Amino acid sequence: MRLNVAIDGPVGAGKSTVADAVAKRLGILHLDTGAMYRALGLAALRAGIDTGDEEKIVGLCRGLKIAVSYEADGQHTFIENEDVTGLIRTPEVSMAASTVSRYAEVRKEMVRIQQRLAAETDMLVDGRDICTTVLPYAAAKIFLTADQEERARRRYLEMREKGMNDSFENVLAELKKRDEQDMNRPVEPLRRAPDAELVDSTSLTFDETVDAILRIVEAKRNG
Ligand code: DC
Repeated sequence: MRLNVAIDGPVGAGKSTVADAVAKRLGILHLDTGAMYRALGLAALRAGIDTGDEEKIVGLCRGLKIAVSYEADGQHTFIENEDVTGLIRTPEVSMAASTVSRYAEVRKEMVRIQQRLAAETDMLVDGRDICTTVLPYAAAKIFLTADQEERARRRYLEMREKGMNDSFENVLAELKKRDEQDMNRPVEPLRRAPDAELVDSTSLTFDETVDAILRIVEAKRNG
């Protein structure tokens, strides 16, 4: 039977890195769905399209081929045939991704691609609407979160490591804005699915968080 694991959670909960480690331990692929919304956000910024213009963004999304592939170092994300993996982690692209993800037609398109990928192979999928919409029948469903300040602190350290020297105050403000936008959009807002297991990583180490999720997956698989 297909093994699908679904993980949702807010910005900076450590989803991507934790999900990567969990998928590796399970020997399955990891689909980072945020990267797909980021690719669309980047395409909008490049084309000079206002991300607040729903009609134009939906048009852009429909005409764009967004794809992922898997290399030795993990997921790569493409616009048409250009590898944009290294270009989609800036604060500007983060905000653009959050804004374009508000539109129902954009979400429909992304969900369709994600469901097709997850049907083809065993896969762990992380995002905001995976437990609720993309994979409601996943074997294991997890909502991974942490306190807002702790998430901002992790984000801040991660950005510094990558050489982006934003202040902590700015990182926290941006995170609050994205939380607000992701949790209050009219279409598929970020929320914990009633049957998703809660993992609060505020006082857990990285390894403890990975282990907590693996325990849930194993329990679901055996139960
Ligand atoms: O996970 P991330 O920070 O890379 O996601 C970027 C934005 O994309 C996020 O602010 C909201 C949106 N997103 C979404 O709406 N649904 C998903 N499944 C994944 C991301």
